[in-house]
Amino acid sequence: MSEENSIVNGLHKYELPPLPYKVDGLEPFISKDIVDIHYNAHHKGYVNTANKLIDRMNSIIKEEEKSYDLHGVIRSLTFNINGDKLHTMYWNNMTEQGKGGGKPGGKLADMIDRQYGSFDRFKALFTEAANSNPGTGWAVLNYDAENGNLQIMTVENHFMNHLAEMPVVLIVDEFEHAYYLQYKNKRPDYITAWWNLVNWDDAEKRLGKYLE
Ligand SMILES: [Fe+2]
Repeated sequence: MSEENSIVNGLHKYELPPLPYKVDGLEPFISKDIVDIHYNAHHKGYVNTANKLIDRMNSIIKEEEKSYDLHGVIRSLTFNINGDKLHTMYWNNMTEQGKGGGKPGGKLADMIDRQYGSFDRFKALFTEAANSNPGTGWAVLNYDAENGNLQIMTVENHFMNHLAEMPVVLIVDEFEHAYYLQYKNKRPDYITAWWNLVNWDDAEKRLGKYLE
């Protein structure tokens, strides 16, 4: 374990996980420049800030810091930890150009057909949800192990609208940094392009962890 990921006063620190492809691996659908900045600046920034806030929490725990806004620190820590986790899912939920897209198979395909009638109807609704999500956030397909539902959700920012105990199967980043350099204000064009990159094997693997 590296020093950066060492345990400090009982709290683990975070590490930027490797990209599962090269920075130009998602072209032409998502440009090299976007992936470079998104991964090396934004995602890395969430990891670094989360670690700084963990250090700050340690100072608070050890009573070295006497004056603080605990709610503010925790809120910022939540934003940055979720920023790391959401982006890690997002990167791995896509695959290199030519290897992704199409339709899911296996149990995921069966469950989508059963709940949404067809993959095409599911894709249209997920796209509509993504395109109607205001401001910054994420369009997500969650699995609810309690009743077996696959729930289309839109997470605002990094955590609002997030439901607990519902693991992510499919996820797309809708922050402007995810598309603006290439698609400007045409977010629907980015969503259309993103469908060509979906790594359905990853989505099925994510779901499979929670199926009996
Ligand atoms: Fe992002």
